[in-house]
Amino acid sequence: MENPSKIAIIGGGISGIAAAKQLRKHNPVVFEATDCIGGVWKHCAFRTTKLQTPRCDYEFSDFPWPERDNSSFPSNIEILEYVHQYATHFDVLKFVEFNSKVVEIRFIGERRKSDEYGSLLSGQPVWEVGVQTSGSETIQWRTFECVVICAGKYGDIPMIPKFPQNKGPEVFKGKVLHTLDYCKMNQEETTQLLKGKKVVIFGYKKSAIDLAYECALENQGPEGQTCTMVIRTLRWTVPHYSVWGLPFSMFYSTRAAQFLHERPNQGFFRSLVCTALSPVRKIMSKIIESYLTWILPLEKYGLKPDHPFEEDYASCQMPILPENFFVEADKGKIDFKRTSKWGFWEGGVELDDGSRLEADVVVLATGFDGKQKLNAMIPDPLIRSLLEFPSGMMPLYKGTINPLIPSMPFVGYFESVSNLHTAEIRCKWLSRLVDNKFKLPSVEKMLLDTMEEIDIMKRTTRFYKRSCISTFSINHTDEICEEMGWKAWRKSNWIAEAFSPYNSQDYAEKEE
Ligand SMILES: Cc1cc2nc3c(=O)[nH]c(=O)nc-3n(C[C@H](O)[C@H](O)[C@H](O)COP(=O)(O)OP(=O)(O)OC[C@H]3O[C@@H](n4cnc5c(N)ncnc54)[C@H](O)[C@@H]3O)c2cc1C
Ligand SMILES: NC(=O)c1ccc[n+]([C@@H]2O[C@H](COP(=O)([O-])OP(=O)(O)OC[C@H]3O[C@@H](n4cnc5c(N)ncnc54)[C@H](OP(=O)(O)O)[C@@H]3O)[C@@H](O)[C@H]2O)c1
Repeated sequence: MENPSKIAIIGGGISGIAAAKQLRKHNPVVFEATDCIGGVWKHCAFRTTKLQTPRCDYEFSDFPWPERDNSSFPSNIEILEYVHQYATHFDVLKFVEFNSKVVEIRFIGERRKSDEYGSLLSGQPVWEVGVQTSGSETIQWRTFECVVICAGKYGDIPMIPKFPQNKGPEVFKGKVLHTLDYCKMNQEETTQLLKGKKVVIFGYKKSAIDLAYECALENQGPEGQTCTMVIRTLRWTVPHYSVWGLPFSMFYSTRAAQFLHERPNQGFFRSLVCTALSPVRKIMSKIIESYLTWILPLEKYGLKPDHPFEEDYASCQMPILPENFFVEADKGKIDFKRTSKWGFWEGGVELDDGSRLEADVVVLATGFDGKQKLNAMIPDPLIRSLLEFPSGMMPLYKGTINPLIPSMPFVGYFESVSNLHTAEIRCKWLSRLVDNKFKLPSVEKMLLDTMEEIDIMKRTTRFYKRSCISTFSINHTDEICEEMGWKAWRKSNWIAEAFSPYNSQDYAEKEE
């Protein structure tokens, strides 16, 4: 083959397209299992799915949204159009091989002999990638020096709860589906599924909340049924981005706000400062909790969490409510139950207190199994064992490089307030690493770094498993900038530096 690509990118979602754009001078191959780019925004969205933030927070640094100051949250269709325009503008679609699913990745390189890494592109093939194109049984094997995993944490594989014998969906006479199945339905089919039906939804995060809202809309009027949400863990939900008239960003997205929070590599003095400032953090969290309890009927419906707001924010688990969510609850169209365990009976579901709910339809809004998606591509038990620490979290230096497998970078596995920005800045860093503009530190240093980061996540929130950096995102990006040789503090003056939120536009490439 003429000038074969050295870099494979797996997945054509936001992360894969951002990676392809940044690595474009290496002519990467992007393997995309489906027939389009956009990932979850195409395959995992409901009719009412919107971005959870204003558009200017989910924006490529060199490609502003049209009408970027429009404060409305764009729909999934608008996001797909935006990603498509971006990919077309930077001519990266030519790298994408559609309907090409990576079914296996094998290591064919040599074992590392020293604690230091040289170039990420070693000059030798290191990975063999097995690709199956739609409609074909055969697997084509291609070799690469570097494989960037952008297969996504969500979508594709549903997380299905496990049930004791005789308590699973097989005993239930009604219909059971996961939100992933629901996403594939058109409007007529969803109406048929929900209208006039007793629907029970498991989950109390974004998919569950949006689905309950859609279910309520289908069940208006006296003939309509109530949709019941069954909740395992309560979350702080947020109706909009202001708190007692103050912008939400003031609490977490500025340098001044993040100064209150622990961060990796902070040193002894900063640790002392953070301990001393912990009452201020608690007060900030309490201010938000008091506002949410005041503005939303959380106490009325038994929906006030016992844990601090800060823990949901620090674990990237803070759903934004559809505008009239509690209006529908007040009309009796949405009801709430709590349970830690549950199972099916023939007429519905049974909760841990023995009570039974009748149901025609049960929807599992129970999330996705991103780990299973990776494992399906990487059968080698040795490599799999390197992919996560015993804590269940992925050890990723700068949210990208596994210290023991640097030629397999990951993008899209660290989360923050805007996952587009989080992915894009890491792709910029990765492309400079590939170009040998800087070197990775020693394996030991990278491992220490990742372990410290994980420790901080664990100390900040009991719900830490998502690799969420939302309380120290600016500092994380500072370190990325410094490694790239960029200025870390990017605002025009000190006041803006301290008090205005950081977003992707701050990292638009200027001559440094
Ligand atoms: C419904 C929904 C709404 C969301 N809303 C927000 C939001 O408002 N703000 C925010 O910041 N984040 C949001 N997120 C998180 C979202 O996951 C990220 O913002 C981002 O879109 C993820 O992009 P990605 O490219 O990493 O993954 P994905 O979008 O999952 O893309 C992965 C791609 O890889 C492909 N793929 C997977 N396996 C293979 C394989 N074996 N071979 C080839 N191709 C493969 C898939 O087909 C897919 O196209 C949302 C997630 C969901 C599910
Ligand atoms: N922008 C948008 O509009 C939008 C829409 C949908 C999704 N998203 C994003 O997509 C990602 C996935 O969201 P998601 O809501 O689909 O999944 P999720 O965040 O993983 O939430 C899964 C929900 O199911 C519950 N659950 C899991 N297993 C259960 C079980 N066995 N029994 C009872 N409950 C169980 C979880 O409870 P616990 O909390 O107890 O684990 C949680 O409430 C998130 O990042 C989300 O922000 C965004």
